[in-house]
Amino acid sequence: TLKLEIWKNQNELYNRAVEIISEQLMSGAKTFGLATGGTMIPLYKNLRNSKLDFSHCQSVNLDEYVGVSKDHPESYYTFMRSHLFDAKPFKVTNIPDGVAEDIQKESKAYENLLKSLTVDLQILGVGENGHIGFNEPGTAFTSETHVVELTTSTREANARFFQSIEEVPKLAITMGISSILRAECILLLAIGEKKRPAIEALLKGKITEDIPVTSILQHSNVILLTDLSIEEEGT
Ligand code: F6R
Repeated sequence: TLKLEIWKNQNELYNRAVEIISEQLMSGAKTFGLATGGTMIPLYKNLRNSKLDFSHCQSVNLDEYVGVSKDHPESYYTFMRSHLFDAKPFKVTNIPDGVAEDIQKESKAYENLLKSLTVDLQILGVGENGHIGFNEPGTAFTSETHVVELTTSTREANARFFQSIEEVPKLAITMGISSILRAECILLLAIGEKKRPAIEALLKGKITEDIPVTSILQHSNVILLTDLSIEEEGT
């Protein structure tokens, strides 16, 4: 089931997200699936400013660029440190290693790690084209952690974080769709008009590999927080 919550005010939306995370922590959640990207920046800021304690928790991140070293300013490792982990330490943090010598082997190892644990809450953003993690349109819903070639649209969307589009990596390691769907609960954040096509497709209810985010309709426990005005069907 998908629970839709529309929060027109973004501050209220992010407060609600923190509340959901806090409720999960209080009910014993210890393993959090984390995302990066612009949508997460205010969320992590609110978490940094909160009293929540993750020091007994572990995290698993969705994805990482290939060929970008940990200390690169745009690596997802650096993103997580500067937006969350430096201020809110976790007991253990896990992010795919984008500079592993053998990235296929690293993908397998990351999937094995994921299979050894249960993600209590997976936080997700969504791409303009409906991607989740870096699972681009057309990715099999059965996919596990794998190496992906980023689409031009995704590289363009992420170019704002780099000096130029040429510097945006062409490959990434991402959890697969089946890896993501193993989480006990999914919290999806979709903010801004650019996300409207993906969210409208999701809310239409048609499950299709052409729009990866629609895979979450197969999940039993999803909360979608959005600031988009959407007509809710039925009452
Ligand atoms: C990041 C990730 C991506 C982003 C998506 C939205 O770890 O997995 O799927 O969630 O690209 O990015 P923003 O929030 O920048 O619009």
